[in-house]
Amino acid sequence: MARIPQTRPIMSDEMIEAAADALANERLVMGESVFKFEEEFARYIGTDHAVSVSSGTDALILASIALGVRGREVVTTPFSFIATANAVVHAGATPVFADVLPDGNIDPAEIRVGRDTAAVMPVDLYGLPARMDAIADAAGPDVKIIEDACQAHGAVYKGKRCGAWGDAGCFSFYPTKNMTVGGDGGMVTTNDERLANDVRKLRDCGRVSRYEHDVFGFTSRLNAANAAIGRVQLRHLDEWNERRRALARRYAARLGDVAQLTLPPMGTRDVTPVFHLFAVQCDDRDALAAHLASKGIDTAVHYPTPIHLQPAYRYAYGFTRGSYPISEKLAATVLSLPLFPELKEEQVDVVCEHIIEYYGGA
Ligand SMILES: Cc1ncc(COP(=O)(O)O)c(C=O)c1O
Repeated sequence: MARIPQTRPIMSDEMIEAAADALANERLVMGESVFKFEEEFARYIGTDHAVSVSSGTDALILASIALGVRGREVVTTPFSFIATANAVVHAGATPVFADVLPDGNIDPAEIRVGRDTAAVMPVDLYGLPARMDAIADAAGPDVKIIEDACQAHGAVYKGKRCGAWGDAGCFSFYPTKNMTVGGDGGMVTTNDERLANDVRKLRDCGRVSRYEHDVFGFTSRLNAANAAIGRVQLRHLDEWNERRRALARRYAARLGDVAQLTLPPMGTRDVTPVFHLFAVQCDDRDALAAHLASKGIDTAVHYPTPIHLQPAYRYAYGFTRGSYPISEKLAATVLSLPLFPELKEEQVDVVCEHIIEYYGGA
């Protein structure tokens, strides 16, 4: 039997044709498709503005700079992809970590805001919305919220989409995400026109006009061909997310009785996750991963080392083991099972059978 991958991007003929059309007929960088994509993405998320950039990391960096974090502190989670905290550093601020809840999202009760706090940067990890209302309460009125929704395209929390909750929402369109632009790309969503204009300027070399630059900008624009792919992908996003949720429910139904596994939250009336990943927790994670690999099933670990224990962060800030115990425990126990829209029900069943067999079940 063919290997079951952990994830697989979708690139249909329709997407390839849209890219080819943009390559043949538009300005290659910031062509017409880019502006259409921004408009459609803003409408989808429910914000007044969406500004495209070159990656999710750049979305976080540029939004942070535009919100004025330089020289101050940003409270974020140590249990995320490293780009979250890197963005804080690249924006000239100091990352301050707050530990997470057992589901992997930042614990609002751990957020401590002080005189130097410029912003809080929560992450909707694995496509599960963070508790944005409680986070806003913890942050208070003077602290900005930069939502890292890089894993949560289409997820909904209390009637509002992820990316619409904070002062800025940041998305990644990297190929493994719930939707991609067929390469690197990102988006900042916001209702703040000034912020949108500042990010537009920062992504384009700090330009106010062709030859005039009034801030130290970046080259972080989106290519027209990538935007053209993104527009087609966006039209499929809801259907793909629905498919991810159906497959997640199938995993949950089959694995619910395996006592050794903790399954991810399936959502509630208030929380609609989009299962960017289906991450189970178990004490013998590496052995289970090896067993599945021997049966032709790929898994992945998001993430084996919490950010504060990465060498760069240990060296720069002196973090040590034990600082954020829940993040450290999750890093040792999470395992992402195969999940992507084109995964078949039978393949989910095969994965579940091998897990049940591994734990000595029937
Ligand atoms: C939570 C999170 N933040 C930030 C990023 C950075 O996005 P990118 O890879 O597009 O720079 C990613 C994805 O890679 C991510 O998963």
